[in-house]
Amino acid sequence: MKSLNITYHKASVTRERRNNLNNHPSIVLWFTGLSGSGKSTLAHALEEKLFQRGCRTFVLDGDNVRYGLNSNLDFSKTDRAENIRRISEVSKLMIEAGLIVMTAFISPFKKDRNEARNLISNDHFIEIFCKASIETCEKRDVKGLYKLARAGEIKNYTGIDSPYEVPENPELIINTDKETLDYSVSRILKFLERKDLIIKDELNEN
Ligand code: ADX
Repeated sequence: MKSLNITYHKASVTRERRNNLNNHPSIVLWFTGLSGSGKSTLAHALEEKLFQRGCRTFVLDGDNVRYGLNSNLDFSKTDRAENIRRISEVSKLMIEAGLIVMTAFISPFKKDRNEARNLISNDHFIEIFCKASIETCEKRDVKGLYKLARAGEIKNYTGIDSPYEVPENPELIINTDKETLDYSVSRILKFLERKDLIIKDELNEN
């Protein structure tokens, strides 16, 4: 720790007060999975539904964050760990700000994901594994990066020459190569309702 002589200032507008005002607790929905497994698509589709219900939301998306806050990081194991550490810290701040945060990062290493969970706290961390085979993701190849990785033009590509460690105990598994987007979103909404994290929408069944 490089910062010395610092004092933590306690806010009078607390997370609890913000949560009461918003009518929902603040949590992190941590999407993990291979590139092309549908993390961002799912996170944004879910955000749309939550927003329509009046929830305070924000999506932190891998590619976007790597344009700004994390533009000095590459895809080595060390830099991926730092990528996830910064995202965890930002998510923690956003939780204090009362938001439902959705993070969409490959986050391939168990250790980094567990550290994120510990930092944010188990009660506020919901790990959602976007499960799609490497064959499916490679076939989709939305950004054309698998092709470049196979040709050896990109190194350390997750699923090709860098590992993806499958989550052992995620709160939810979404089979993005078998389920429709609508169905996946409704499963997550139902999960959140069952846990009393959002209020059941009586008018619109998911
Ligand atoms: S993470 O591993 O550090 O969690 P992150 O989610 O931020 O990755 O970024 C992944 C995105 O960066 C991919 O969707 C892809 O578009 C792009 N990318 C570029 N190079 C690589 C690489 N070597 N491995 C994986 N993704 C890469």
